[in-house]
Amino acid sequence: MSVAAETESLGTRAGVAIAAKSVNRVFDSPDGATFTALNDVQLDVKAGEFVAVVGPSGCGKTTLLRIVMGLEKASSGDVTFDASGDEVIRSFVFQQSSLLPWRTVKDNIAFGLELQCRRDQRATGTLRMEELLELTGLTSFQDYYPSQLSGGMQQRVNLARALAIDPNVLLMDEPFSALDAMTKEHLQRELTVIASHLRATVLFVTHDIREAVFLADRVVVMATDPGRIVETVTVDAPDTRDEEFQRSPELASQAREIWAMLGHAQRSTDDGQTS
Ligand SMILES: Nc1ncnc2c1ncn2[C@@H]1O[C@H](COP(=O)(O)OP(=O)(O)O)[C@@H](O)[C@H]1O
Ligand SMILES: [Mg+2]
Repeated sequence: MSVAAETESLGTRAGVAIAAKSVNRVFDSPDGATFTALNDVQLDVKAGEFVAVVGPSGCGKTTLLRIVMGLEKASSGDVTFDASGDEVIRSFVFQQSSLLPWRTVKDNIAFGLELQCRRDQRATGTLRMEELLELTGLTSFQDYYPSQLSGGMQQRVNLARALAIDPNVLLMDEPFSALDAMTKEHLQRELTVIASHLRATVLFVTHDIREAVFLADRVVVMATDPGRIVETVTVDAPDTRDEEFQRSPELASQAREIWAMLGHAQRSTDDGQTS
């Protein structure tokens, strides 16, 4: 994908810091019992930082993202944003494509822009249509319908639509998990370029540890039952996250360390349950 050389409207903002303080989320079961999906989650994300959240299925990754997005409330604790006086604009990219099948690529993205217009047409920082198409590699596909696109292309459109509201907080929930390995790696590389242009604060949920290391400045490691953060790891990466880094022993060894943390956290949980 080519990225426009002069994407002037991008990256002009101060950025948003996110702070989750003692976030708990308890669900009631039909049988009257309660289930703690998130237990005392503390997380500080710096403005412009790319943080990946990894952990086994059911550890509360989606719940955490939904709370940060404002789609769901914490049972206690809270999430605050510091945008240095700027408006906080959050955008969510889901695992499943959520495109409107009767609209073309361009019109699906325009749907995001229409939403933005209702948000008082911010004069600066607006991502124009051509810029969005260019940034996400969709220029020559703008008149296609979703059914005419591969899964990878559909996820680009989802991303472009999320970017259309010009978010300074981008929340992504396993956006590449349904894609084949090659498409996935390709989109991962593109996302690093897009993210560095945007300067948005990104929270990226994945259960793919290598993906987390490749993309993120920091990786938050969660465990389940109760869902909680067990470690936070700062990634050691080169300035440019390219194919070489993707296949490097440095990436592999950092991913192995995180695997070990996950295994250890889960064994402690299991021990706790049996004792
Ligand atoms: N609305 C809900 N009602 C009851 N339980 C829920 C609800 N949403 C999530 N859960 C439970 O909370 C736990 C965490 O879910 P989720 O955040 O989706 O995990 P993850 O995304 O890490 O797989 C799971 O055990 C799930 O069943
Ligand atoms: Mg999930």
